[in-house]
Amino acid sequence: MAYIVVATGNQHKVEEYKELLADQNVELKSLKDYPNCPEVIEDGKTFTENASKKAVEVCRYCDVPAFADDSGLEVEALGGEPGIFSSRYADTDAARIEKVLKNLEGKDNRRARFVCVIAIAINGEVIETFEGEVKGSIVDAPRGSNGFGYDPIFQPDGYDKTFAEMTDEEKNKISHRANAVKKALEFIEDEMSILDSEF
Ligand code: IMP
Repeated sequence: MAYIVVATGNQHKVEEYKELLADQNVELKSLKDYPNCPEVIEDGKTFTENASKKAVEVCRYCDVPAFADDSGLEVEALGGEPGIFSSRYADTDAARIEKVLKNLEGKDNRRARFVCVIAIAINGEVIETFEGEVKGSIVDAPRGSNGFGYDPIFQPDGYDKTFAEMTDEEKNKISHRANAVKKALEFIEDEMSILDSEF
């Protein structure tokens, strides 16, 4: 079977991708399978720059097709923060959540979106990038214990549950990552004749 490496060691993300790619005829590897792969420094100014850099560097190091994502939470009233700094906004998930809630104190606008950009690299070059999003709002206090990151404070539009109160299956139907993956899969299916030799 052909395989592709996802440029992350984050087990939550790997599991989400495994589920999202379950029906595809492709085996998913991750950086856990390439423990010596050097860490890629995320110094881009956009999700797209960071995802592209990770995909290219991992593709070149592992010498197989690779994809990478960069994702984060953008809060409207905070000028898009934490954005590309989502994983570095504070030291722990709990502290990051607290910081968002504190910064939103007294603000009426609680609109936010999760964004995910996926970059696919083949033969050491990015061939395409795909953006997915899910819009919603930041709730007043954390709810739920599933998922990771900012899930306990993000409630997607049209639902009365936060991401952390949803099952993996529910979240994976509507998440920013799922939407980016859908676009990537459509592209791969359309371009399969080109990619067949690579996969
Ligand atoms: P990345 O690994 O550089 O893409 O960092 C993304 C960061 O954004 C994560 O560490 C989380 O803090 C946050 N994030 C991205 N996707 C999600 C999600 O699905 N739920 C909750 N937080 C997320």
